[in-house]
Amino acid sequence: MNSKLLCSVLSAVMLTTTAQAETIDLPKPQTDSPLMKAIDARRSGRAYSDKKISEQELSNVLWAAFGVNSHGTRTIPTARNLQDVKVFVIYEGKTWLYDGKNNQLNEYETPDLLPDLASQEFVYDAPVHLIYVGSKRYADAHAGSAYQNVALYAAVNGMSSVVRGLIDRDSLHQKLHLSEDEVVAFHQTLGYPAE
Ligand SMILES: Cc1cc2nc3c(=O)[nH]c(=O)nc-3n(C[C@H](O)[C@H](O)[C@H](O)COP(=O)(O)O)c2cc1C
Repeated sequence: MNSKLLCSVLSAVMLTTTAQAETIDLPKPQTDSPLMKAIDARRSGRAYSDKKISEQELSNVLWAAFGVNSHGTRTIPTARNLQDVKVFVIYEGKTWLYDGKNNQLNEYETPDLLPDLASQEFVYDAPVHLIYVGSKRYADAHAGSAYQNVALYAAVNGMSSVVRGLIDRDSLHQKLHLSEDEVVAFHQTLGYPAE
């Protein structure tokens, strides 16, 4: 068979395959459960009021982000169960490192991080900032799970949040004294929405 003929035969076979491909019209999604309602309610918010986030609310948020669940692992899946996420928190004018195992915030000595985060003006208005750090290979994936949990919590509790990639990662890396293998993945603002 010459190559032109072979091409025509292959095209015909591919067309036939496409024509025979099936379609499934899915049933309407059942969005009535609390989880599905939370997924539906989630959206990015970029306007914050000056209403404070209480320590109880912050504890809930951080548990959702990277707390220890009732199975003894974390509220997010981690590759090879590494659990190697660091969540830095800016709250009440200080920087903290979340310790999920002891449910504590430990003050972290660092210069002001806000200038490295505030490429958008609204950032200064948010009462809580979460900075997700992880090992190079998995940082983005792990941060994605954590920020989505936080966004869902925010959505059902009348709060506003947005995950942000427009940050100065190099400067943050330096100021947070991170190791060679660690990277800053994303920043997430959290607070109550402006009226
Ligand atoms: C990885 C990532 C980085 C993002 N970076 C920013 C950012 O720097 N600034 C911002 O205002 N929004 C940022 N967003 C939010 C998106 O703009 C937002 O999710 C998108 O517009 C859809 O809107 P929704 O979240 O309300 O559905 C980011 C979202 C993701 C997933």
